[in-house]
Amino acid sequence: MTLKITILGATGSIGKSTLEIVRQHPDHFKIVGLSTNTNIKLFEKLIKEFRPKKAVIANKSFFKKTLSFSGVKIIAGEEGLLEISGDPDTDVVVAGIVGFAGLSSVMAATRAGKRVLLANKEALVCAGNLMVENCFASNAEIIPIDSEHNAIFQCLGVGYRCFYKAKNLSKVILTASGGPFRTWKEKEIENATVEQAIAHPNWTMGKKISVDSATMINKALEIIEAHWLFNLKSSEIEVVIHPESIIHSMIEFSDKAVLAQLGQPDMRVPIASGLAWPNRLDMDLQGLDWRDIKTFNFESPDDKRFPAIPLAREVLNSGGSLGAVMNAANEVAVLSFLNGDIAFGSIIGMVYDSLEKFSQIASQNISSLDELIILDNSVRQFCTKLIKI
Ligand SMILES: NC(=O)c1ccc[n+]([C@@H]2O[C@H](COP(=O)([O-])OP(=O)(O)OC[C@H]3O[C@@H](n4cnc5c(N)ncnc54)[C@H](OP(=O)(O)O)[C@@H]3O)[C@@H](O)[C@H]2O)c1
Repeated sequence: MTLKITILGATGSIGKSTLEIVRQHPDHFKIVGLSTNTNIKLFEKLIKEFRPKKAVIANKSFFKKTLSFSGVKIIAGEEGLLEISGDPDTDVVVAGIVGFAGLSSVMAATRAGKRVLLANKEALVCAGNLMVENCFASNAEIIPIDSEHNAIFQCLGVGYRCFYKAKNLSKVILTASGGPFRTWKEKEIENATVEQAIAHPNWTMGKKISVDSATMINKALEIIEAHWLFNLKSSEIEVVIHPESIIHSMIEFSDKAVLAQLGQPDMRVPIASGLAWPNRLDMDLQGLDWRDIKTFNFESPDDKRFPAIPLAREVLNSGGSLGAVMNAANEVAVLSFLNGDIAFGSIIGMVYDSLEKFSQIASQNISSLDELIILDNSVRQFCTKLIKI
């Protein structure tokens, strides 16, 4: 059977990796929906190659009336993202938009009962409770493709469904590469440049997640992501630095047996696993050469140089909608850092200040996407004012 796929964020790092797999397996997969935000040049090429039924340019100002392909409906704006996410002709939605901008389309896909391959961790960080509600109501299925969570999902085995507590699971162990500044001194980290921050030692990714890896806010977001996906408390989610990025994460059972998923640091592996799940695809990729791997190293994260991890635990323990506050502040701070408006060391400061400012307002769970958008906007305005000071 051919699986009909919609890729949200087709022009990004996750989107392009997904399309490489589709190219290798034209008999298994058919692209029915694609989206971009602004990258029209690449998008045109992708439309010509994959001929989706619908193609969305999320940013309306990049839409050109002259863009026309027979048999392809071109839609501009966020309403297009919602349309392709819930399209009856789509079997699987790959959620590869970066940040809060990807949330409403993920919500639309879960409302429509789709199988969602979730890369957009920010959606769960901001709206975990709403996503769980949607999935339970519509029977939508989340398959995480963030490499760590996909590793855990694979270890939990065929038959496991996200949002349920797995039987006899005592904890998950999220591995972290430590990012480009793992061995740097605190003072050096504070003034790191954009080039240094986005030069991840093991993974090639979009700019935002690369900066998140450098601050280790990525791992903080992943703790919250794991909390929702696997129904775990903060104390059941351990983080260990593993600089080789070969062990993608592990699970430990109550009898202390540990299962791990290993492989090259290549996002095509978790995406392929998600696309075929519970089956497997033949992938033309380089496997691990065990003779090349001399050692596996492990260390504890340094909470002083990288305070994001203890902060995520505070956010989880406090509950409410603080995840959305943390995410919005981080998005503004990362963009400002990439634009040269703030120092690398100010990113985490902005997240702290926002959490402090919004701790009361966000102490309750949010019950709708509209309320969440209002909270997200308020945090963004607060951060923008901080930058101007
Ligand atoms: N990259 C990885 O290896 C990796 C690994 C694990 C998890 N993830 C997660 O996957 C998600 C995507 O990451 P990425 O690295 O692939 O990001 P990316 O390379 O920056 O790509 C982001 C995609 O989202 C689109 N986009 C950006 N802003 C948008 C908006 N406002 N509305 C609609 N579409 C928008 C972009 O369009 P344009 O091309 O037009 O800008 C692009 O197609 C993130 O949540 C990230 O945390 C990524």
